[in-house]
Amino acid sequence: MTDVQAGRPPVTDWATDYDIFDETYITDPYGIWGELRARCPIAHTERWGGSWLPTSYADVTEIARDIENFPSGNGIAVVPPPDGAGPGSGGPILSAGVPPISADPPLHTWTRRLILPTMSPQRVDEYEVFTRSLCVQLVDGFLERGSGDAAAEYAQQIPVRVIGHILGVPDTMAPAFTEWVRDVLEFAHDAERRMRGITGILQYLTGALDERIATPTDDFISELLASEHDGQPIERPVVMGMCALLLIAGIDTTWSSIGSAMWHLATHPDDRRRLVAEPELMPTAIEELLRAYSPVTMARRLSHDIDFKGCPMKAGDRILMNFPAANRDPAAFPDADKVVLDRQVNRHVAFGAGIHRCAGSNLARMELRVAIEEWLRRIPEFDLDPSGEVTWAGGQVRGPRTIPVSF
Ligand code: HEM
Repeated sequence: MTDVQAGRPPVTDWATDYDIFDETYITDPYGIWGELRARCPIAHTERWGGSWLPTSYADVTEIARDIENFPSGNGIAVVPPPDGAGPGSGGPILSAGVPPISADPPLHTWTRRLILPTMSPQRVDEYEVFTRSLCVQLVDGFLERGSGDAAAEYAQQIPVRVIGHILGVPDTMAPAFTEWVRDVLEFAHDAERRMRGITGILQYLTGALDERIATPTDDFISELLASEHDGQPIERPVVMGMCALLLIAGIDTTWSSIGSAMWHLATHPDDRRRLVAEPELMPTAIEELLRAYSPVTMARRLSHDIDFKGCPMKAGDRILMNFPAANRDPAAFPDADKVVLDRQVNRHVAFGAGIHRCAGSNLARMELRVAIEEWLRRIPEFDLDPSGEVTWAGGQVRGPRTIPVSF
């Protein structure tokens, strides 16, 4: 039992009383989703402020595309922000929210447009050089030891430095950002930690913006400060929110995906050896690992009552966008619970669907590919270290936090 679980009654019926912070749900949710799809495809709970949990591909994608009935502007956190000030809540700390993810059109449309060029395939190719040398350096840090933690010493170290490189955040800030982003996402239900994370990020960005206003550089923060919308400079709270989003969205998500991929390769030697022997499988393997271990669950909050597939949803209710469960739906993917490295048809929604589809997917895919390539190039054979423990985190973003391996 984790500290988060302490004091909460155990779940006896997942259809009416699910708990996304339950230890079982975090470590092994697949059977629970399977049972719900068969019995009650849109589950409900009163826990954590109450929410609905769709589990089928058809329902999740329909909701994601219906921005009229399921907006993002009322909050996107999977649990209520403790003080009403969390990302997307429009509270006093992040007064503009974290657009585009927390916004509906028109704010969504133009803020997304400002981000896309930085995440284009051409720009991502430029970041690949930095990412590759970072991965080599990280592996070198534990190669001689014959053991390492593929999550804490590898996966966790990559995205924070890559997004820091893009935003112009110094490498020395990486540990602080990692903690702050964990505070915001992994500990979203812990008022104190969540506030510590938000405050840390915002204090840092306040200073970073001041510095670039005084002396512009060629990083993304300076680029945003120099951008215009409708002939006017972008207001400072919007720039702050967008930068905070890139940090929050770009770190935990990708680290969780890389970590899950490493865990899979450590525990499935046939797949690992196949990928080493047939590197041409990498493009389909990356999509398959993204599908099978999708990390991100976002939320929507209703503006009005609606009856959706027989569920009486009320204004203010939260709907958890269960992209991970949608990707394991056998109605959409044959052998959904099996990782098939050369799966040909794979319309997964790990990056979401509709207008909020991930703006950083090119970057995320590159980081995942390079991280696997550089690890396998130097450590083609590795196994879980039985003397250590694999641990997972869940909630808004699910992925392994420790994967002790030996080689
Ligand atoms: C494997 C890694 C990643 C996964 C699985 C992922 C997943 C997602 C998902 C599911 C959404 C849609 C959220 C919704 O519908 O409410 C989203 C949106 C977004 N992601 Fe990612 N993401 C990843 C990496 C990144 C990276 C590296 C960045 C950039 C640094 C990024 C930036 C964004 C942004 C800006 C949005 C908001 C787009 C919009 O609202 O129009 N993501 N992501």
